[in-house]
Amino acid sequence: MMSFFKALVLTVFAAGSAAAAEQESIAYGKALVEANCARCHAVGTADASRHAAAPAFRTLSERYPLGALEEALGEGISTGHPDMPEFIATPAQIEAIIAYIGSLQTR
Ligand code: HEC
Repeated sequence: MMSFFKALVLTVFAAGSAAAAEQESIAYGKALVEANCARCHAVGTADASRHAAAPAFRTLSERYPLGALEEALGEGISTGHPDMPEFIATPAQIEAIIAYIGSLQTR
């Protein structure tokens, strides 16, 4: 009986810290995009992009799956648009940016 409770407590604790890690990742991603992307892209839930051609991040999943974005970030986004600076993110940064952008998507 004791070991059952112990396992239960450990399971609840693990789920809680996974959620906390996810929140932390989202916060880190938000800071990264605010520092590196916000001067052109809308990075919030209701703001407008400062660069007219730059899509709002909350709409990105309408264009393609976030998995594709993850790949693009890993390779350094420089896809055919001159105004878009190359940004090569570390795996931890990519995970954080995807977590943040994922948290913004409305569908
Ligand atoms: C100097 C302005 C600028 C900055 C800074 C910038 N972008 Fe962009 N980005 C653009 C523009 C303009 C477009 C649209 C280009 C087009 O559609 O031809 C774009 C498009 C994109 C797209 C869509 C690409 C596609 O093919 O649809 C993604 C994803 C993206 N940016 C991610 C980012 C991320 C992540 C950052 C920060 C690390 C960032 N951008 C920073 C200007 C910028």
